[in-house]
Amino acid sequence: MDLGVKNKTAFITGGGEGIGELAAMIMAQDGANVVVADRDQAAVEMVADKVKEHGVNSLAFSLDVTKADQVNEAVQKTVEEMGRIDMLIHIPGRGERKPFAKSERADWDFALDLNLFGVLNSAKAVLDQMINQKSGSMAFTVSDAGKVGELNNPIYSAAKGGVIAFSKSLAREMGRYNIRANCVALSAMNTPGGLKLRQVFADRYKSTVESIEKKILANYAIRRFGEPQDAANALCFLVSERASWITGQALSVNGGFSMV
Ligand SMILES: NC(=O)c1ccc[n+]([C@@H]2O[C@H](COP(=O)([O-])OP(=O)(O)OC[C@H]3O[C@@H](n4cnc5c(N)ncnc54)[C@H](O)[C@@H]3O)[C@@H](O)[C@H]2O)c1
Repeated sequence: MDLGVKNKTAFITGGGEGIGELAAMIMAQDGANVVVADRDQAAVEMVADKVKEHGVNSLAFSLDVTKADQVNEAVQKTVEEMGRIDMLIHIPGRGERKPFAKSERADWDFALDLNLFGVLNSAKAVLDQMINQKSGSMAFTVSDAGKVGELNNPIYSAAKGGVIAFSKSLAREMGRYNIRANCVALSAMNTPGGLKLRQVFADRYKSTVESIEKKILANYAIRRFGEPQDAANALCFLVSERASWITGQALSVNGGFSMV
């Protein structure tokens, strides 16, 4: 399916690897210019070079989404160079994995800073430009934890639930400017973060990664882990012209884990 994004500009936070890199490639293949933003300078430059192989423009920014000034500067430079920002795909996020009873304020600050404030920084940074254009779309990466909660991941769940509620409110506030906001809710993934987590579980429960994986997959209708491509496909669809009447939704891409 042609996404209808030719000559548009996509700004992808967390674009340096995994889901974000694949999203950058989908966009570039369909003719969009792609801005790749991530923490690692070498990674963003590598992905931007790959994007350019598709004959489109690309910019690379090394930034931390929890730092509003860094995100604002990258967005400003993008508008100067590309003239517009049509799509925002926001990916960074991580869980703290600690029972609430044992958590401290520093844990809460970390989880909210990355998973909630990171999203707010990105959305706020692109909003004025999208309002001026009277068009734009955003897709935020969340988790089913934000819909149904998750054991030992309370603040992450709160942050992801907050992003879902934020995107619904933003969709209502910005619909008059033809700006859409949606979420993609993931579950157990074969991303570097997901693989690391299963090793943590194996160590914590004195088990093996294989045994942990078998137990996790028993909860999934489709008995495999999500691939980065599954997430990238959904994020790109939701910000594309093909989803022009979809806004305020949190689409679970989760192999039938939770069905709400
Ligand atoms: N991995 C899973 O099993 C899983 C499950 C449910 C939801 N999710 C969500 O999916 C998203 C991606 O997960 P992942 O495991 O691929 O994450 P990840 O830790 O692999 O990071 C994704 C990308 O974001 C970048 N990044 C991280 N922190 C950043 C920051 N502060 N500023 C700029 N870039 C930053 C990383 O360098 C990486 O390129 C997250 O929002 C996560 O909460 C993941």
